[in-house]
Amino acid sequence: MRLIEGTYGIAVLHADFPDRIVVARNGSPVVLGIGEKEMFVASDIAALVAHTRQIVTLDDGEMATLKADDFRTYTTEGTRTTAEPTTVEWEAASYDMGGHDTYMHKEIHEQAEAVDRVLRGRIDDRFSTVHLGGLNLDAREARRIRRVKILGCGTSYHAGMIGAQMIEELARIPADAEPASEFRYRNAVVDPDTLYIAVSQSGETYDVLAAVQELKRKGARVLGVVNVVGSAIAREADGGIYVHAGPEVCVVSTKCFTNTTVAFALLALHLGRTRDLSVRDGRRIIEGLRRLPGQIAEIMEQEEEIKKLALEYAEARSMLFIGRVRGYPVAREASLKLKEVSYIHAEAYPASELKHGPLALIEPALPTVAIVPDDDLLEKNRAAMEEIKARSGRIVAVAHREQEKADHTVVVPKNEDELDPILLGIPLQLLAYHTALALGRDIDKPRNLAKSVTVE
Ligand code: G6P
Repeated sequence: MRLIEGTYGIAVLHADFPDRIVVARNGSPVVLGIGEKEMFVASDIAALVAHTRQIVTLDDGEMATLKADDFRTYTTEGTRTTAEPTTVEWEAASYDMGGHDTYMHKEIHEQAEAVDRVLRGRIDDRFSTVHLGGLNLDAREARRIRRVKILGCGTSYHAGMIGAQMIEELARIPADAEPASEFRYRNAVVDPDTLYIAVSQSGETYDVLAAVQELKRKGARVLGVVNVVGSAIAREADGGIYVHAGPEVCVVSTKCFTNTTVAFALLALHLGRTRDLSVRDGRRIIEGLRRLPGQIAEIMEQEEEIKKLALEYAEARSMLFIGRVRGYPVAREASLKLKEVSYIHAEAYPASELKHGPLALIEPALPTVAIVPDDDLLEKNRAAMEEIKARSGRIVAVAHREQEKADHTVVVPKNEDELDPILLGIPLQLLAYHTALALGRDIDKPRNLAKSVTVE
């Protein structure tokens, strides 16, 4: 192992030692499953839960030798390490399709329940705030934060964009999100008063992990917003929030995205209430959070209508997604979802920037999906739709009430302004799904993509 360079997660067999497997990890995940007189090796806990719940996750630079009834762990230098198995709580049943044709469909429909889980046990009605047990950030430290920087890739980056807005709105701390893959290569200035937050469903995305390691090396405080308990990013971070979405199998992320945005709402509320957010506003946000599961169930009831829309637009070669401020990250994520799963080219743009370029593209063959929340930018969004209509563009609006400028409106239940982005994207997951289905795509495993990218 001392001779091997780069990132790897490997398992080796030797013909002369047929009773053992040697495994090693550096950068890419390796998990051991401890059974009764049998041992398992995998790169993901998901592969093991049908066989055992007792799991050992190797650290970077660690290796193990496995025999049917025993395992030992070492550093790659050969020093013994101690590895206590942990019990994973995910049910093997979470990996059935449970009557759905794809995991994506199942996971979209699990969202009301998943959101209920991320909220459970965390709301503190007495002080109109939330308890986040794993944060490791006391009130004094929380008040010293001058800036928040959120890092993630793909869908998690988009969830981070929504999170940054929530933190700015509720806690009034300047916050922004950046792709971790960019951050780690640009020799960023690491500031001791900034709170860094790494977002990752799998907790194993190499670009995010590398960014966390670089930050920690420079003395920064890093929190993780992660789904997989005990994953590399969760272990590297100084503290964080588990999003408790349960296992997500489909390559494209849906329920984890939603739960991550809810986890950010909790963090924003918590930071807000250690600063200047009033009890009244805290209560307002808590009531909004409690309404989310029921409102998600209402969105699911519209599936048949959304399916019809998908059939109508499935022939498009390209689609434009627009939104402003709170609607913009929603447009970004919806456009990513459509391109990943249906292979239709999709582009997201701030609606405010339409006139600075993309208006040139508008014609009947380029449909637009407009995110139109009932907030203080409603009139601005209506004006953008008017510009598109005047150029014969077709429009699907996702809004809190019927939009006359649009050819179709998907009406989403209204929550508090700050929490609306959590819900606005959900019908567009269904749109992406039914478009991909109509086009006969491999929904759970889109071409060229992987669920977690654990290599450079
Ligand atoms: C891959 C997946 C995306 C995912 C991204 C980040 O690119 O295909 O669906 O959003 O990784 O994954 P993470 O596990 O870090 O959230």
